[in-house]
Amino acid sequence: MLPFRRAIIFAVFFITAFILLRRAHSSDTPNPIRRPPPKAATPEHHASSTSNPAHTGTDYRDKPVPAQKAIQDMSEMSLYDKLAYQYPYDVESKFPAYIWQTWKSTPADESFEFRNQEGSWTYHHPGFVHEVITDQVAVHVLRLFYAPIPEILEAYNALPEPVLKADFFRYLILLARGGIYSDIDTYALKSALDWVPETVPQTSIGLIVGIEADPDRPDWKDWYSRRIQFCQWTIQAKPGHPVLRDIVSRITTETLKRKKEGTFVTKEKSVVEFTGPAIWTDTIFDYFNDPRYFDMKRSTGDITYLNFTHMKKSKKVGDVVVLPITSFSPGVQQMDAGDYDDPMAFVKHDFEGSWKPESERHIGEVQ
Ligand SMILES: *[C@@H]1O[C@H](CO)[C@@H](O)[C@H](O)[C@H]1NC(C)=O
Repeated sequence: MLPFRRAIIFAVFFITAFILLRRAHSSDTPNPIRRPPPKAATPEHHASSTSNPAHTGTDYRDKPVPAQKAIQDMSEMSLYDKLAYQYPYDVESKFPAYIWQTWKSTPADESFEFRNQEGSWTYHHPGFVHEVITDQVAVHVLRLFYAPIPEILEAYNALPEPVLKADFFRYLILLARGGIYSDIDTYALKSALDWVPETVPQTSIGLIVGIEADPDRPDWKDWYSRRIQFCQWTIQAKPGHPVLRDIVSRITTETLKRKKEGTFVTKEKSVVEFTGPAIWTDTIFDYFNDPRYFDMKRSTGDITYLNFTHMKKSKKVGDVVVLPITSFSPGVQQMDAGDYDDPMAFVKHDFEGSWKPESERHIGEVQ
């Protein structure tokens, strides 16, 4: 009897071992070859793409990748074209599930001051890759993404102040990888998945911006550099968006010019104009009026601040969604902004964790 029982035990053991081994070698096991970072879809869309086959068409990881991309000689290209070549824009791709922030320290450091703010982004965005990048790490990240365009790295390294580098970095990381950039002193009040109404297809937009200031007063020039000012403390973008391409080439060109001249920031040449909200605002308006991207013949006139003043709901212009002032600047108690509990309030910006000089940062608090 014993040999028979033993035979059965052996048989069960071998069959189990066989099944386990087969499983271990099935395609579910992680590929030892490192995959590229998830260019990933927002979790919501990810979920819908598995349940709804109609969505898989827009998942560009499933699209056949051209076997070869002809290598072009970039040396004759303009900086703008080099960036377009390096980081092409595809409006049909998804907003990558990244959150980028920068600070002197990261949540891994005991001295990290913005735990609640940082945590609010993680809380509202489960499944997103969330990175807080220090200055030291930023240099390496940029070297990785911009090695083929050395003038970008030269410009970044030439910028003499952390505030300038921090401004430049947000445009660079969004251009290369897309996702959300937000200043470290910003609370997420709502998930970015709820920023744009469901009636607006995600495949028709590539950039989401908010309004920093809409000062409807005769002396607005004493307080703000533009009549409508778009904020750059929170931005969501798809990689390669033309507005990012444009602002990166503008800042790079201007920086290399100032490097030659030897002065970067003076009273006349402010941070706001150089890398901050003023140039950000100008670049967005220039995009709205750029015949390369918009059919100007069919439009009824230039797009100006008049198109965005006193907005209560978000507005889509081309592939850009402009959110009302309440969304990224709630609770400022001026310029018609709603409070933190307003349904359109999406982030709360504290103006604390910025490298920007006080005078520039607190300009939003005039009554
Ligand atoms: C912008 O405003 C002008 C009038 O000020 C109007 O003619 C035009 O249609 C508006 N454009 C958009 C996209 O809202």
